[in-house]
Amino acid sequence: MTHNLLVLGGTSEATALCQRLSEAGIRATLSYAGRVARPARQALPQRIGGFGGVEGLIAYLRNNAITHVIDATHPFAAQMSTNAVAACAELGVPLVALTRLPWQAEAGDDWINVSDIAGAVAALQRPAMRVMLAVGRMHLAEFAPNPQHFYLLRLIDAPDAPLPFPDCEVVQARGPFTLADDLELMRAQRIDLVVSKNAGGGGASAKIEAARALGLPVIMIDRPAIPARREMHSVEEVLAFIGHSGVASIGTERGV
Ligand SMILES: NC(=O)c1ccc[n+]([C@@H]2O[C@H](COP(=O)([O-])OP(=O)(O)OC[C@H]3O[C@@H](n4cnc5c(N)ncnc54)[C@H](OP(=O)(O)O)[C@@H]3O)[C@@H](O)[C@H]2O)c1
Repeated sequence: MTHNLLVLGGTSEATALCQRLSEAGIRATLSYAGRVARPARQALPQRIGGFGGVEGLIAYLRNNAITHVIDATHPFAAQMSTNAVAACAELGVPLVALTRLPWQAEAGDDWINVSDIAGAVAALQRPAMRVMLAVGRMHLAEFAPNPQHFYLLRLIDAPDAPLPFPDCEVVQARGPFTLADDLELMRAQRIDLVVSKNAGGGGASAKIEAARALGLPVIMIDRPAIPARREMHSVEEVLAFIGHSGVASIGTERGV
């Protein structure tokens, strides 16, 4: 038996893993939800769209003889990750999550920690401010109850529906962003406060560092709960795990 991996993607970590798997000649497919119009170019074959819940994922894993699932989704993609735990447990397919450690507040940071999007909306019940709302496209409507603020949105794709804010601006851009980029943006837009998911990792951390440098408060949304699973924090760890989990070794597949 040789490797046939399914990588659940949508993150820069998934892109990095796919590059390494391709270089190592390991057979794998990258799965996207299909939320972004033009996903980044990838080194591996792709499939796009939901599987159809746990049952659909079980069928996909079975029909495609998947040997390992690597969940490299965003830490807030809790439904997909929960489904992966259930489907892999059902079939006995090894599952590894490639995860990022959450960001931690540093001395002097002014973080308002909230447990979910609803908590962030509640924390925005305050007089009008200029808010950088860095929560992605999917949850914008939930912030409609606080129309008093100016909202700066940075989105990969232009919004496909009218935005629920009377005063807002959209910057269309794809990360990763640098500290210099985000300092310039926040200064130019006279931002008073940042709302962010605690995504962790380096690709999205510049806005947190910029808020720190500018002394701005951050409403930081905690990660959703995900069932227990094997977690690794580097591509190297994942490659080592694949090489030692009961199918042909990476060395064999590379021909070395
Ligand atoms: N949530 C974020 O803040 C965030 C940020 C950056 C990137 N992303 C990426 O965007 C995608 C969607 O995130 P989400 O928060 O909407 O996920 P989610 O709420 O956990 O997933 C909702 C449904 O979307 C489908 N899905 C999600 N990720 C998928 C994948 N990689 N491949 C195939 N189907 C997938 C699944 O549909 P079925 O049940 O039909 O299988 C899943 O049940 C993920 O790939 C994630 O890595 C999310």
